[in-house]
Parts: sequence; C-alpha cells; structure tokens
Amino acid sequence: MKFFGKPRSQTATFLPLCLLFLKSLSPGHSHLYSNRYAGDKVIRLTPNTEEEAFVLKKICHQLKVDLWQPGGVSQISQGTVTDVHVPHNGSQALLTFLQEANIQYNILIEDLQKVLEKGSSLPAWRSRRSLSGYNYEVYHSLEEIQNWMHHLNKTHSGLIHMFSIGKSYEGRSLYVLKLGRRSQLKRAVWMDCGIHAREWIGPAFCQWFVKEALLTYRSDPTMRKMLNHLYFYIMPVFNVDGYHFSWTNDRFWRKTRSRNSRFHCRGVDANRNWRVKWCDEGASMHPCDDTYCGPFPESEPEVKAVANFLRKHRKHITAYLSFHAYAQMLLYPYSYKYATIPNFSCVESAAYKAVNALRSVHGIQYRYGPASSTLYVSSGSSMDWAYKNGIPYTFAFELRDTGHFGFLLPETLIKPTCTETMLAVKNITMHLLKKCP
Ligand SMILES: *[C@@H]1O[C@H](CO)[C@@H](O)[C@H](O)[C@H]1NC(C)=O
Ligand SMILES: *[C@@H]1O[C@H](CO)[C@@H](O)[C@H](O)[C@H]1NC(C)=O
Ligand SMILES: *[C@@H]1O[C@H](CO)[C@@H](O)[C@H](O)[C@H]1NC(C)=O
Ligand SMILES: *[C@@H]1O[C@H](CO)[C@@H](O)[C@H](O)[C@H]1NC(C)=O
Ligand SMILES: [Zn+2]
Repeated sequence: MKFFGKPRSQTATFLPLCLLFLKSLSPGHSHLYSNRYAGDKVIRLTPNTEEEAFVLKKICHQLKVDLWQPGGVSQISQGTVTDVHVPHNGSQALLTFLQEANIQYNILIEDLQKVLEKGSSLPAWRSRRSLSGYNYEVYHSLEEIQNWMHHLNKTHSGLIHMFSIGKSYEGRSLYVLKLGRRSQLKRAVWMDCGIHAREWIGPAFCQWFVKEALLTYRSDPTMRKMLNHLYFYIMPVFNVDGYHFSWTNDRFWRKTRSRNSRFHCRGVDANRNWRVKWCDEGASMHPCDDTYCGPFPESEPEVKAVANFLRKHRKHITAYLSFHAYAQMLLYPYSYKYATIPNFSCVESAAYKAVNALRSVHGIQYRYGPASSTLYVSSGSSMDWAYKNGIPYTFAFELRDTGHFGFLLPETLIKPTCTETMLAVKNITMHLLKKCP
C-alpha cells in the first residue's frame, strides 16, 4: 500500500478504496451470507426405535430443519444416523424435545455462522491462485470455473474441446469439456459434478480430474491409454444456477432455481427430475421440499439438456459417472427399487476394485452397492435413467466425508479427496477398457 506515503489530499481520495479492500480481507467486518446462519446448529440424531423415528420426523417437519443427508424428513428411520441443520430459533425446542424424549443425539456444530466464517471454506478473501497458476486446492466460484474452461479450451486445444449443451433456467450456458485424443470411433465416458449445488467438492473433483489428465497424459501410461481410447465428456457444474446461489445467498442450497407458478418456493431436485419411476418413492411432490421432483420429468432445462445429449450419444457412451457428497459411497443402480441389475457381477466387481484402489491411498473406507440398499431408495435419479437408457456402467460417487464436516469439507481436504477419487475413477475406466470378466 505504497500510497500511504503520498501527500494528504491523495491519501484521502484513496482511503475509501483502501477500506473497501480491507473489509473484504478481514472476516470480522462483514458477515458471509448476510449472517443468516448465526446461532444455527447441526445436530446428529440417532433414533433407536420406530417410535423415536416417528416423533423425530414430526418435530423435524414442524421446525423446518434441513437434512444434511438428502432424502427429506422421510429418510429418518430407526437405527439410521441423520444430521440435521436447525435454524437458531428452533434449536432450543429441538434440544429440549430430545432430552425429554431421551433420544440419542450429538451436537456437531454449535454455531454454523462461526464455522462458515472461520476461514478454510471461505470464498471471500483467499488468494484464488497459487504461484504456479491455477489453484486446484480451493473451491472456485462458477465464474472462475467457466473462465478456467475457456482458458483450457484455448491452451489445450489438442486434447480439449469446450462446448455448450444448452442454457440453465436463469440463462447461463451449460458447458461441457470433451477430453481425449482426437479420433473418430471412440467410446466415451460421461462425468458430471455439482447436480446438487451445496456439494462443492464435486466441481472441485471434476476440475482436478481434468488437471491430472492434462498433467500426466505424457508420463502416465494408464492416463495415456484412457485418453487415447476414450473420450471424457466432463460437466464440472451441472446445476449452474444453484451453484452460483450457494456462493452468493445460501451455502446449503441444493436444488435448481426455477420458479413455481403456485408456490413461493423455488427449485427442483435435479436428481429426482429424470424420467425413471419419476416422483415415486424417495422424491417429494411438494415444491418446498429439498427432494421436489418438479412439475413433470425433465422440467428443468439443465436436466433436459443433459438427457438430450446422452440420448443423442448413448450408442458410444459406455459409462455415466456422477459426483455427489457426502457419504463415502460408490453406488450403482438401482436407486428406485430393491433389485439387482442384470450383469450385476460385472458392475459389482468394478465397484469393489475401485473402492479398494481408493482405500489404498489414504485408508478411507467407502461402502459400495446398489444405491437403494446402500444409501436409500430414490426415484427419478440420473444414474438410474442413464442405466435404463442403455449406458451399461453407471455409478454415483458420494465423496468425503461421513458428516464431520459434511458439505463444509475444508479446502485442505480437497487434495486428499481428489487424489484417492482419481484412482477409483481410473480403475473403473480401465475396467471398461477390458472385456468385462
Ligand atoms: C423461525 O424464524 C422463521 C423466520 O424468521 C419463521 O418462519 C419460523 O416460523 C420460526 N420458527 C420458530 C420455531 O419460531
Ligand atoms: C473452444 O475452442 C474452439 C476452437 O478453438 C471454438 O470453436 C469454440 O467455440 C470454443 N468453445 C467455446 C465454448 O468457446
Ligand atoms: C449383459 O452382458 C451380456 C454379455 O456381455 C450382454 O450381451 C448384455 O447386453 C448385457 N446386458 C445388460 C443389461 O447390460
Ligand atoms: C484396480 O484396483 C485393484 C485393487 O482393487 C488393483 O488390483 C488393480 O490393479 C487396479 N487396476 C488398475 C488398472 O488400476
Ligand atoms: Zn448430491
């Protein structure tokens, strides 16, 4: 700030600017998201009986808690751990209730606003770039991610081609990167991240994957084989409107941002909006719910754009991979029913090897299996839809962690999370290139 040494008159004109700068640098002076999470708590509930689960559902509905494991209040069940985000004015009521009913609970976060402002997952004042260029170990805003894509499209045109598959509800471009050595008849893998806005580690992983591919294409025979034999269609941010909103207004926003003609609540769960057992079990018909399936299948322009793209290219798309958080699971169909898919053993062995490969990096354990029995039943998901539409290998990753940080996974954990996930994705991809045993 060398202008401090200048004559008084000039310093005075610079001062307001300088204060503005300082304000954005120091957490004490401004509150993120307009201080809306002050006093909010995150509480882990463990109902041990059916009765406890029943009364918990009732009170959670009344207090308008936000379930941090997606699925809505209906997912609360006996023996299942559920993390809920309770608004400040409801937390005392919930705690009193839990104590009186003698239901097991832990307070994971005492004051959510304080956690958000503590630093590590803060967008406002960190350096966006490392010395050597792009910083892959911070979360990036939508604008930063799109600029990054444009940049790669210019600088790596040999391996990357960027295009748009449509527009979001709010008119943003839906960009996809096509990654791989140019060649005519190649099979392809589709990867999307950020279907759910608040799951920030997803887009960070999609970026990481692209970085690793470009960085190791020459030196790593596995990566070279992947990019020579396959195309990767990578959509780093599926739900662009929601992701943007999670940076500017509501860190825990999950859905799209579309308006509803009859209710004031906005948004549809982009992972319940697909035409596969649409709006059945595990999805809500109510526009104010986090798992709202939408007014009709593919009502969301983002879902429709991706569905159109996959329909058009399904003949050569071999695998569909979708990245979510959090739970540490590797899931495959079905989501909407308890049943095993045909050729189950093939997909199962791919999942088994992938979670083993993942664990070999930092010892992190992933569960794997059909989504319905491993996580919960949900209808209208992208994974089931892709499978039903002829893509034989479809998986959904639920990345770190299991609830300690939840959606607020610190930036220091981006690198370990992405490193281990990278190995799992490479393992699945190599499995595809071989004939399924
Ligand atoms: C908490 O505040 C919100 C918004 O101010 C209100 O809609 C809600 O009814 C309140 N909840 C309780 C339990 O007082
Ligand atoms: C990516 O680059 C190609 C050619 O280099 C250009 O035609 C295309 O429009 C670019 N994509 C986007 C989305 O700008
Ligand atoms: C199961 O595998 C066989 C042999 O590889 C294949 O012909 C068939 O299409 C597969 N079925 C499904 C549903 O993927
Ligand atoms: C995939 O992971 C398994 C361990 O689960 C390992 O034995 C195998 O070599 C890996 N394959 C590739 C191609 O990385
Ligand atoms: Zn998700």
